[in-house]
Amino acid sequence: MLTNEQREKLIARAIDAYHRAYAPYSDYSVGAAVLTKSGEVYDGVNVENAVYPLTLCAERVAIFKAVSEGEREFSALAVVTRNGGTPCGSCRQVMAEFARDMLVLVADLEGKVVGEYTVEDLLPDAFGNADLDEALP
Ligand code: THU
Repeated sequence: MLTNEQREKLIARAIDAYHRAYAPYSDYSVGAAVLTKSGEVYDGVNVENAVYPLTLCAERVAIFKAVSEGEREFSALAVVTRNGGTPCGSCRQVMAEFARDMLVLVADLEGKVVGEYTVEDLLPDAFGNADLDEALP
């Protein structure tokens, strides 16, 4: 469970990051912040490219930054857009890799929470490492 203060802080970090998004092609900025079980926060923004498919979403940037610093356990992720858009399918799959019970807060630029989910809500029965184990001979 997150305290109200932790939720507000996480959303504030995502809003702060939002302003650093690199989105010249879509003009749709996204900011994200992920809270680790150890209490650290890593933020991320969408990073677009002139070769459009190379774009990386804010949620994945935040999670990959955290993982590359040695983090593996997450308790919450906040994502902020101008209209409260929800995480894309690829980001949901990456979230499911690490934390199916993670809280996902979807908020707008005023910090108003417009959606609150677990990763399991967003991607039920996700493919995961257990499926690979079963497939092994
Ligand atoms: N985007 C994200 O950063 N996260 C999502 O979950 C949805 C989409 C970005 C990718 C692209 O830069 C822009 O939003 C429009 O699709």
